[in-house]
Amino acid sequence: MSELETLERTLLADIDAAGDEGSIETVRVNALGKKGSISELLKTLGTMTPEERQTRGAQINALKNTVAEAISARKAALKDQAIAERLARETVDISLPVRSSPAERGRIHPISQIVDEITAIFGDMGFSIAEGPDIETDYYNFTALNFPEGHPAREMHDTFFFNPDEKGERKVLRTHTSPVQIRTMEAQQPPIRIIIPGKTYRQDSDATHSPMFHQVEGLVIDKTANVANMRWVLEEFCKAFFEVDQVTMRFRPSFFPFTEPSFEVDIQCDRSGPIVKFGEGTDWMEILGCGMVHPNVLRSGGLDPDEYQGFAWGMGLDRIAMLKYGMPDLRDFFNADVRWMTHYGFRPLDMPTLFGGLSA
Ligand code: DAH
Repeated sequence: MSELETLERTLLADIDAAGDEGSIETVRVNALGKKGSISELLKTLGTMTPEERQTRGAQINALKNTVAEAISARKAALKDQAIAERLARETVDISLPVRSSPAERGRIHPISQIVDEITAIFGDMGFSIAEGPDIETDYYNFTALNFPEGHPAREMHDTFFFNPDEKGERKVLRTHTSPVQIRTMEAQQPPIRIIIPGKTYRQDSDATHSPMFHQVEGLVIDKTANVANMRWVLEEFCKAFFEVDQVTMRFRPSFFPFTEPSFEVDIQCDRSGPIVKFGEGTDWMEILGCGMVHPNVLRSGGLDPDEYQGFAWGMGLDRIAMLKYGMPDLRDFFNADVRWMTHYGFRPLDMPTLFGGLSA
């Protein structure tokens, strides 16, 4: 075999063996580069006789062309192979469910959801939100709300008292959101239409009681607000909140120091199944306390009871959240268990609105 044939075989074998674009480039440089084996052969042409050059030149050029073609064919094949491999590696299974983005993973706590729902409902009726401190004075929590000194109603609340300060005054963790009624009357003139969502505290703990819980209070004060208005507001609220068209409510006479007359309100429900259904059935469930604001409370708030009147209500938020969303144990609300939140929590971008649906 001639020297040229041997070189051709070796080079074609190297080309075949090159497994990627990097190694084929090495083969090319070694053969056709400036100092490549074929280039070196071409340089020898200058030392030949014209006859020699004619045959030998044609042979070397033929070899050069063969090798160059083989290299570009191999390069193209390797390129196709690389694309095919990449396509196979990066296939997308379009039948897989969409992966949720990180923002989608967080959940809104049911209590925050309920506050947003209630805010949407009362906001639509023209109410605004009021807030007050969790640590209250005895005056705002009791005295200004017409609880007489030493009256058993003060004990009824199982109050958390702080140690007395230098003046002997004992602050309390507010036992209800009602003190914000007084703070609001002091701060703004009627007409007043507010709701007061917030944390409240009592010494109590079992499946339906937690030492820290939530209430939402409502207060309406103007010159004519009456029991019929209150009834309408509460009925509209219950229909919107429980997302039913019709609901029957029962107002039972009751007692609270800060209202006269006072009522406890039950709403119609069906408790025969695993979850409570509202607006149907023959059973009743107590959901709130309410009444006409007591004249002494108006006076505490700096208002003249001969000029102004109003109504108020207070409702346990945790309880209505449990009822609406079927959560059996109140203590789970405050355990910060991520699995519970993933199950009962709400998607952060699904803001409750009356037009978009409260809990949709
Ligand atoms: N503050 C009462 C409680 O915690 C609830 C309540 C009842 C609030 C009647 C009111 C009301 O505003 O009118 O038990």
